[in-house]
Amino acid sequence: MSDTGTGAANGATVIPVGSSYDVVVGHGVIDQVAGLLGDGTRKVLLVHPQGFDTYAVVVAEALSAAGLLVHLAGVPDNESAKDVTVAARLWSVMGELAFTRSDAVVAVGGGTVTDLAGFVAATWLRGVAVVHVPTTLLAMVDAAVGGKAGINTPEGKNLVGAFHEPAGVVCDLDVLATLPRADLVAGLAEVVKAGFIADPGILDLVEADPEGATRWDGRHTRELVERAIAVKADVVAQDLTESWLREILNYGHTLAHAVEQAEGYRRRHGEAVAIGMTYAAELAQRAGRLSPEVVARHRSVLSSVGLPTSYREGSFEQLLAVMRRDKKSRGDLLRFVVLEDVGRPVRLEGPDQAWLRDAFTAISR
Ligand SMILES: NC(=O)c1ccc[n+]([C@@H]2O[C@H](COP(=O)([O-])OP(=O)(O)OC[C@H]3O[C@@H](n4cnc5c(N)ncnc54)[C@H](O)[C@@H]3O)[C@@H](O)[C@H]2O)c1
Ligand SMILES: [Zn+2]
Repeated sequence: MSDTGTGAANGATVIPVGSSYDVVVGHGVIDQVAGLLGDGTRKVLLVHPQGFDTYAVVVAEALSAAGLLVHLAGVPDNESAKDVTVAARLWSVMGELAFTRSDAVVAVGGGTVTDLAGFVAATWLRGVAVVHVPTTLLAMVDAAVGGKAGINTPEGKNLVGAFHEPAGVVCDLDVLATLPRADLVAGLAEVVKAGFIADPGILDLVEADPEGATRWDGRHTRELVERAIAVKADVVAQDLTESWLREILNYGHTLAHAVEQAEGYRRRHGEAVAIGMTYAAELAQRAGRLSPEVVARHRSVLSSVGLPTSYREGSFEQLLAVMRRDKKSRGDLLRFVVLEDVGRPVRLEGPDQAWLRDAFTAISR
């Protein structure tokens, strides 16, 4: 990480993702998008949630001031943005605007918008530039970094998509001021995940001030965001496609996906991930990999910021059946990312049925 030296007012941090692109993090940096676009860019398709254009307008004005032709495209809110009909409408707009390879897409919104906009950018003319301006904590530390883009289909979430690295990412912590606390807390689950899989310093910071961690202007919030992004950036820079290293980012996600699916996606993703990490820790302990102290640390860190660590709503048999269909398992063999210690993720393949059940009992008490 380094200081951009763009002036005391901004004092932005720049986190490089390998040698591919930079993630800019700071307060009041939302208007820095123009600098991340190529010199030849003339037109910009700015994608944002309909009814949430507060920041989109700020970005659009900055881009216009830089001499770019900006077209604002409002899309449905939440997961309904990630639909092929929405993508098709954006392709039509690009056609009408005579969008060329040197023009660019800018996404201003949560992970649904960065996923959709990234997908549209990946597919138009087989790939035009996209800059992400994530406005949720989850999108800052996860969705906007790494180049995975996609939409949902009736058959499931994120089944259609592409790898398309952004030209840059701008994370302005000030935009988190309007994000509901529950959404910020849900995003924290991915931050804590980064701590458990790779950066114990994150866990120390949350433990030092759990209440502050749940606020956009908390004492350590900026450092937490930067460290979590650095973890994801490190992993994806070394591993663009889905093999082992990238798999560690799925810590807690095997059970989380099953919980989300069983509940019809009514729960926030981060909350399911918190439950899933607690389960993975209990499972690792039963597999003789992880100490009870680190399992207890999962519960204490997650619950200190208001994230759930237990799940009493569903049955083990139902969740097991869903997990067996999970794309992360190979054939009939269930596959989990577990920890041997903080910062030491390993793969656990085909765990004993008894361990799976006991771990579930431990989180459903
Ligand atoms: N591509 C990846 O690697 C990756 C990784 C993780 C998640 N994702 C995807 O991200 C999506 C979830 O993203 P999300 O949690 O950001 O949800 P989201 O995009 O649905 O945003 C949540 C809600 O917050 C609103 N919002 C956004 N910013 C706001 C702000 N600053 N103030 C007030 N309200 C604001 C949005 O309009 C929306 O209603 C999922 O579709 C998931 O598949 C992708
Ligand atoms: Zn996740």
